[in-house]
Amino acid sequence: MADGPGPGAREMAGIATALIVAAGSGQRLGAAVPKALVPVGGRPMYEWSLSAFQKADSIGRIVIAVPPGGAGDFAADGTELVDGGDARSKSVAAGLGRVETDFVVVHDAARPLVTPELIDLGVEALVRDPDVDAVIAAAPVTDTIKRVGPDEIVAETLDRNELRAVQTPQAFRTDALRRAIASGDLAGATDDAFLIESAGGRVAVLPSPPTNIKITIPSDIELAELLLGSLAGTPTSLDKD
Ligand code: C5P
Repeated sequence: MADGPGPGAREMAGIATALIVAAGSGQRLGAAVPKALVPVGGRPMYEWSLSAFQKADSIGRIVIAVPPGGAGDFAADGTELVDGGDARSKSVAAGLGRVETDFVVVHDAARPLVTPELIDLGVEALVRDPDVDAVIAAAPVTDTIKRVGPDEIVAETLDRNELRAVQTPQAFRTDALRRAIASGDLAGATDDAFLIESAGGRVAVLPSPPTNIKITIPSDIELAELLLGSLAGTPTSLDKD
């Protein structure tokens, strides 16, 4: 990414729209409600992300993609709710229709440990570097990763120094994401940066803590609650307002 002085705090204020995708089912969690509504630390999971985005200086409006017809279950004053789609990228596409700023930050409601600092760092890095279309949160990989064949036999050991575990938030130039979504394989994309890559765009990574976990299975909730408890009282606290 480009070096040099970054944009000032005043230029950054409210420069981006947040798009929180919260339209997934709670199937893998074994939950009877959509995943974003499953309680984590005493509040619906999506509220942790919402709170972090409300505190981020770079964020103006907040759009949340919710399960179709489920807006009434989200108490999200001051935000705009839009019906999501049947694949994650379709929910992003639906929310993108409401974005009017040049920059948009896409985030999974399933990552309640996101911080305002991480959000602002991503937007700032993107604004500062005109040569990249996206800046995405990514953690170093500590496990050794091997590629295996269909027979469960190891085919290759990958150099973990070159690997990153990609997360959200992901900050985009809105027009680049719109173009990538218009031409991309939405059903096959597990993140939006993939669509930018597929369209020939440049994606930069922003170092992110491994604590920014995604809630997928029930034990992830216990881990998130432990991490939220240990972060409480620190400058990155996600305490309820
Ligand atoms: O299913 P997965 O954990 O990968 O979902 C990541 C995020 O995408 C979650 O916050 C989920 O609510 C959201 N999602 C969505 N629309 C879908 C599927 C997932 O907004 N159709």
